[in-house]
Amino acid sequence: MTKIIAANFKTNHTRKSTEEYIQSLDKKLLPSDKVYIFPTPIALCENNFKHLNIGTQNAYPIFNGAFTGEIGLQALKELNIKTILIGHSERRNILKESQEFCAEKFNFFMKEEFEIIYCVGESLCVREKGFEDVKKFIQTQFENIPIKYPKLIVAYEPIWAIGSGMSASLEQISQTHCFIKSICDAPVLYGGSVNAKNASEILNTKEVDGVLVGSASLDMESFYEIIKKAREK
Ligand code: PGA
Repeated sequence: MTKIIAANFKTNHTRKSTEEYIQSLDKKLLPSDKVYIFPTPIALCENNFKHLNIGTQNAYPIFNGAFTGEIGLQALKELNIKTILIGHSERRNILKESQEFCAEKFNFFMKEEFEIIYCVGESLCVREKGFEDVKKFIQTQFENIPIKYPKLIVAYEPIWAIGSGMSASLEQISQTHCFIKSICDAPVLYGGSVNAKNASEILNTKEVDGVLVGSASLDMESFYEIIKKAREK
């Protein structure tokens, strides 16, 4: 199966730099690549590229209405955007999104047949308690999530590995992905300090169906290096 390579720009890049990045990356891609870009909301553009898919980092579960600062379905439809990230730890922890709200968003965008990259992952404190606690914690992040949804992609992103420069070990990745795969049938991506140097061994791990990349996706050449590593698999 072709490995999925996704870039989460978070609150980085401008409209102009995102456009330049996407235009030049799209020219380098092959029809067999499976690449997603999640730009910052103000840089969302029409999803009409030849080889890559534009997704939204967030949206409110509503068509339109009085939800100051939020993006609704109507705006996404105009841009032909059909992919959304839900449950990212920065939204759960910094923006205080509850499991209940993640599930509400999931159900709303599922009805709209969006492809959903649903993020789960434990804190360092849970990881340090041992794998049984990690499993219990991840299980709670699947509460009220219709795991049989065919357009579900899970991203396992241990919080302590995000932006820290310290990715999880291959053993931790493989063990946790096996656990997630025992819960649901979806492809499972790994995220957390993936870069051009460690991408190859991570993508080589049997249970890894792709990667979700933050910091190392901000530079187009560095992100393209990761895509090239995925082609070798
Ligand atoms: P990182 O972020 O690659 O900078 O660790 C990954 C993510 O949060 O999706």
